[in-house]
Amino acid sequence: MTIMRTLLLAAAVPVVFAQTQTQPAGSPFPSSTYENATDPRAQAGAVSGQTSPPKYPSPWGEGLGDWDAAYAQAHDFVSQLTLTEKVNLTTGVGWQSEKCVGNTGSIPRLGFKALCMQDSPLGVRFADFVSAFPAGGTIAATWDRKLFYQRGYGMGSEHKEKGIDAQLGPVVGPLGRQAAGGRNWEGFSPDPVLAGIACAETVKGIQDAGVMSTTKHYILNEQEHFRQGAPPASLGLNALSSNVDDVTMHELYLWPFADAVRAGTVSIMCSYNQINNSQACQNSYTQNYLLKNELGFQGFIMSDWAATHSGVSSALAGLDQTMPGDIAFNSGTTYFGTNLTIAVLNGTVPQWRLDDMAVRIIAAWYYVDRPGNQVADAPNFSSWTSDTDGFRHYYQSLDYQRVNDHIDVRGNHGAEIRAQAAAGTVLLKNTGALPLSGKEQLTSVFGEDAAENPLGPNGCSDRGCDEGTLAMGWGSGTANFPYLVTPLEAIKAEVLSNGGSFESVTDNYAYSTIAALGRRTAQVGGACIAFGNADAGEGYITVDNNTGDRNNLTIWGDFDLLVANLTAQCNNTIVVLHTVGPVITNSFVDNPNVTAIIWAGIPGQESGNAITDILFGKVNPGGKLPFTIGSSRGEYGTEILYEPNNGNNSPQDNFEEGIFIDYRAFDKLGETPVFEFGLGLSYTTFSYSDLGVQAHSAPAYTAPSGNTGPAPTYGTVSNITSSYVFPASIDRIWNYIYPYLNSTSLSVSSGDPAYGINYTWPAGSYDSSSQPYVAAGGAPGGNPRLYDVLFTVTATITNTGDVVGDEVAQLYVNLGGADDAKVVLRNFDRLTIQPGATATFSADITRRDLSNWDSASQNWFISSATKTIFVGSSSRKLPLTTTLDLSGIITGPGSGGNGTAPVYPSSSASGYSSSATSSGDGSSSASTSVGSSVSVSSASSPTGYSSSFTTSAKPSGPAGYSHSSPPAYSPTGYRA
Ligand code: BGC
Ligand code: BGC
Repeated sequence: MTIMRTLLLAAAVPVVFAQTQTQPAGSPFPSSTYENATDPRAQAGAVSGQTSPPKYPSPWGEGLGDWDAAYAQAHDFVSQLTLTEKVNLTTGVGWQSEKCVGNTGSIPRLGFKALCMQDSPLGVRFADFVSAFPAGGTIAATWDRKLFYQRGYGMGSEHKEKGIDAQLGPVVGPLGRQAAGGRNWEGFSPDPVLAGIACAETVKGIQDAGVMSTTKHYILNEQEHFRQGAPPASLGLNALSSNVDDVTMHELYLWPFADAVRAGTVSIMCSYNQINNSQACQNSYTQNYLLKNELGFQGFIMSDWAATHSGVSSALAGLDQTMPGDIAFNSGTTYFGTNLTIAVLNGTVPQWRLDDMAVRIIAAWYYVDRPGNQVADAPNFSSWTSDTDGFRHYYQSLDYQRVNDHIDVRGNHGAEIRAQAAAGTVLLKNTGALPLSGKEQLTSVFGEDAAENPLGPNGCSDRGCDEGTLAMGWGSGTANFPYLVTPLEAIKAEVLSNGGSFESVTDNYAYSTIAALGRRTAQVGGACIAFGNADAGEGYITVDNNTGDRNNLTIWGDFDLLVANLTAQCNNTIVVLHTVGPVITNSFVDNPNVTAIIWAGIPGQESGNAITDILFGKVNPGGKLPFTIGSSRGEYGTEILYEPNNGNNSPQDNFEEGIFIDYRAFDKLGETPVFEFGLGLSYTTFSYSDLGVQAHSAPAYTAPSGNTGPAPTYGTVSNITSSYVFPASIDRIWNYIYPYLNSTSLSVSSGDPAYGINYTWPAGSYDSSSQPYVAAGGAPGGNPRLYDVLFTVTATITNTGDVVGDEVAQLYVNLGGADDAKVVLRNFDRLTIQPGATATFSADITRRDLSNWDSASQNWFISSATKTIFVGSSSRKLPLTTTLDLSGIITGPGSGGNGTAPVYPSSSASGYSSSATSSGDGSSSASTSVGSSVSVSSASSPTGYSSSFTTSAKPSGPAGYSHSSPPAYSPTGYRA
């Protein structure tokens, strides 16, 4: 319908604009391999079939960092719990079985209510009278720590008032490897430092409001295609494997998670994809080793929704909580619940591991003071209906009652959102048209993106359409708008209040009407403002053939043609873009009749007010691009894998570009961006001078000493199975996930025909003895010495124009090695400067900021290569530069930083190509045993730890992991 309309109308107009994007003939998607982007360090690690080494045992939380008080409380609490009460904390009750998107069981005996986990990273999903905050990418564009925190606190407060325990955000995975990645906008920026700082401040804001944050999706969840295997489900594919090398993992993708952990995020969500061919939620390397050992994470790992693919394997590999609890949505089966109870009773999951899960969850609860932040009758809303009355157990149609109290939790967030969105608006081009004076005789607005969706702002479920102005992408990362101020409404109100005249054409295809209005506007010296957008979202919704990830980087709705027609008549065309990421602007960027271009991001509910504040100069733009805008998608050096490339086995997505994504790729490939990372103009101008560097003495970089204690247990677990049989006093709800046994026989209770088959678990899984700390670890966020400040850089920034303005001064570093990026962002600050005045930019450089990762020693090190620093207004406008004096700093890889001359990790030094065979990686082999999650053994098996798993290594058979193909049997047997 849209296409036909386009063709007909296009045929009627003389100006037809050529498609500027080049794509291989005969293919809807490019199939380039971008050989030039290959990072030599990635070669041995980013290969098809790459394996993930086994790392056991799962580290037990110890109350490291500032977690000691929360751990002391958790120990007291968990010591009182029975086995099934502990299991209840680890397992969701099943999809749509209670009011939140995720709900654990409760512990009524101790007055502990079920935990409520609720999306999203930009506000409360599925609730009314909540705020729709700017998306992650837009708040990132403010480069303003105070606003990162303010937004986090605002979102956290709203979650708290609705009775939610954990907000499912923020997002730093996807980081944004591919420009077209569907969920990039939920996160912040493809730069790990900007993303890490934004994430940390968001975490602090959410948690200071008394709600748990869940940083997600861990890790390398960079695209939507095949994240859970298919689409389409009929292909039966396993989830995609993101194959990465050790250096890239540390220097790029793990970096912002380290910031999140250091900021105290109490929960981390493991992702749908595989990492080096091992499912994320049972990957012992990423969970046990990287997150819990190296990063010293003291909170709990929660699965993404149906991302759990095994019971015992996942538990031993570090998963602490499975969500929403059932194996596939509404399967009535579970990998934890009853099966975890059985596994503890027969010894396949040691009590210390279950206790650690429970302690981590309860410590998280205390860490953010959930006890002091409860509201009455929580949760006071239902995700599944907006009616006042409905079923508490929605899936079961049970317990009809009042489910929505319609509590307005918005506070003054509307005003904050308006300011946040304006602060995150980026002025890309301005030949003098802006700001508008307000005295224009005629102001004209063009484009569907200026107007409201005819179905209303919440008309498409989970925002799964691109109708009207774009203020949110689609998927689970959404909230309902309490209202949406459109650009059309806000600009019109402003123009009318100034006594001007206002007209609009919001049909993108009404070319002749657009041209006529443009011409008239130009003739009276007015302004033509054209709005365009590009949308994306989560892969379970397809919009205009975009299955989450975008198919291309063009602006939607034939916007290029609209602008071509408009600029043919109007010599003062201002382009405003609401996009989820980079878009191709080639067709109009250099057109002299395009007098200004603004990236207005994904602004949330106050969209129109925020853009009006910018257009009319009420707010001087100070945002900076959090990504690079290029002139073709090939320049980014990375691409979405749109087609399966491994038969029916896991598609293999090799991150062969290493650390070179976004601006690092442009620099490496010698591409000139259209608008570079960090760019943003103002209505004033700034100059940079007086670079200063102060060195600080810091303690030597030493590995943490000593060992952990042995794994603690809390309380004793009785092995009298009859005490765990489903209590007669509880009305069993159909298809609800419980921790109880069906029978005093574990084998019968499991319902697993293969119960008791021998299986040898990965070496070390059951080792509860004290363990050494890893050199790069020792505290939340990693070795605390990594965060020692080695240098402080200062510069003078002068406002050389006539109006007050904000400037984001940026500090970049070149680490000096042959395989390092030309520059990497390391710090920034947003300064408000009066006209003619100066401000001092001051930015710290930590040890981590100057370090590279060395795979051989599994540690960070500072190479002796020259470290050059740069200060300026964008990644390519860096007028101030100097080198750092490294004397006094011990450089080189090796033990404790006492190494010799720097040796960059050779291409063979990938920590991921370990000697582990695929069968040695319990997580990997287990992941492919469909439905064999039950993981229980007969007590008489020789090891005591056997299960239904076969020992066959890495079978790659049918997925069985997508929502549409649940395992064939029901191990818990709770079907009605
Ligand atoms: C998404 C998560 C989300 C969860 C619950 C998943 O499919 O990947 O981001 O939190 O669903 O809605
Ligand atoms: C749910 C989302 C979830 C997705 C997973 C959808 O049905 O609404 O919350 O993220 O399934 O694929």
